[in-house]
Amino acid sequence: MSVATIILAAGMGSRMKSDMPKVLHQIAGAPMLVHAMRAAAGIEAQKTVIVTGHGADLVASVAAEYDETVLTAHQDAQNGTGHAVQQAADALQDFEGDVIVLYGDTPFVQPETLQAMLDKKAEGHGVVVLGFHAADPAKYGRLITTDDGRLEAIVEYKDASTAQRDIDFCNSGVICANAKLLFSLLDAVTNDNTSGEYYLTDVVGLARTRGLTCAAIACDEAETMGINSRVDLAAAEVAFQIMARQDAMENGTTLIAAQTVWFAYDTVIGRDVIIEPNVVFGPGVTIENNATIRAFSHLEGCHVSKDAIVGPYARLRPGAELANGAKVGNFVEIKAAQIGEGAKVNHLSYIGDADIGAEANIGAGTITCNYDGVFKHKTEIGTRAFIGSNTMLVAPVRIGDDAMTASGSVITKDVPDTALGLGRARQENKPGLALRMMNKLRAAKAAVKKG
Ligand code: UD1
Ligand code: MG
Repeated sequence: MSVATIILAAGMGSRMKSDMPKVLHQIAGAPMLVHAMRAAAGIEAQKTVIVTGHGADLVASVAAEYDETVLTAHQDAQNGTGHAVQQAADALQDFEGDVIVLYGDTPFVQPETLQAMLDKKAEGHGVVVLGFHAADPAKYGRLITTDDGRLEAIVEYKDASTAQRDIDFCNSGVICANAKLLFSLLDAVTNDNTSGEYYLTDVVGLARTRGLTCAAIACDEAETMGINSRVDLAAAEVAFQIMARQDAMENGTTLIAAQTVWFAYDTVIGRDVIIEPNVVFGPGVTIENNATIRAFSHLEGCHVSKDAIVGPYARLRPGAELANGAKVGNFVEIKAAQIGEGAKVNHLSYIGDADIGAEANIGAGTITCNYDGVFKHKTEIGTRAFIGSNTMLVAPVRIGDDAMTASGSVITKDVPDTALGLGRARQENKPGLALRMMNKLRAAKAAVKKG
């Protein structure tokens, strides 16, 4: 059976106190909306419709950056969750399968949980609702269930009796039903309630009046965490990081001080990788087996191959690609550059827009001068080349295989294979001059003191 998802993302999120729509605030380097989109991708949803409202154009364009196949539907006025879901009806007009309603501000619902809902629905229920046993049920809608596990109704807190408010089984908001059925039930929903809104939750009672059964399944409360404020956002970040650290360690990564390592939503790490304290991952990082990321390094958009060593205090920026056994040491920045197998850039260097051959050694303080103020230019360094300390490589420039540059050189012309490039003033020694100059200066100082 094919499945579609509808992600509600129309709310303003006024408690965020932000000019940016709430669902675009980031957790682990991705907008919270994208976390929900990834849950949809995790059950191979054929179609995903994002219901936008506040900041609709921006929300739609950010969503498309991550998945250009997503559809959007616009909700002009926020008349309730039922009304919001109805806006997706046109986009899903020809869709025959099941649909799951998700929320752009509820980023942690897991694909396995959504699959469990689909499985439950396949047992023959009209509507399946995702619930959780709340530590503090507060203002959540309450799930009214029978002893044999059927769901009879969802009662909003505002509309609930005192006895109903004692129930701790709460509505996460996530709902699964056949698409055609869902939209037909929504057509019958009214706004005759305390809030004057069209409640999505009313589809449960309506399905039952049509002779269909409904069911609720429970998930961990952590999955249903919703974000309404910056405090919630910070708590969500921590919750994400705790999960990501746990996953990394369970998959064979050593984290020496797990609480100090910050992952991105998409970090991929192999086995027997060691990550030292205080390492931060931005989006788009992959690390192969046996690599070591030493303390205080920052990595984003980069690939680190087997046995490579990065840091301490290294910065790998987008497009940095380290081959097997490459070494990037302290206070080194690498951007859009390939570092060949076994090559070393160990100290105080900037390597940008460069291709560095296998076993090359880049001396301390080497800079690729890649930018002329308008264009970026490329530096190529051959296999086993040896770049002397404090070389300025003024790109575009090529250093050949087995070539060298003299320390302190400003290299503006290609250096052929096996040649030594020397680009600095020739040294001259003046015998005795240092001492004569010093004596003169000391005498001058003594004269001033005497006055
Ligand atoms: C909803 C549920 C409640 C559940 C709770 C879980 C209904 C009627 N109630 O209540 O049972 O316990 O979520 O958090 O569904 N939205 C739109 N357009 C709208 C209204 C809402 O896009 O017109 C979006 C909001 O941006 C938000 C989500 O839907 O992301 C939920 O809306 P919200 O108003 O927070 O619903 P609750 O009252 O919390
Ligand atoms: Mg809410």
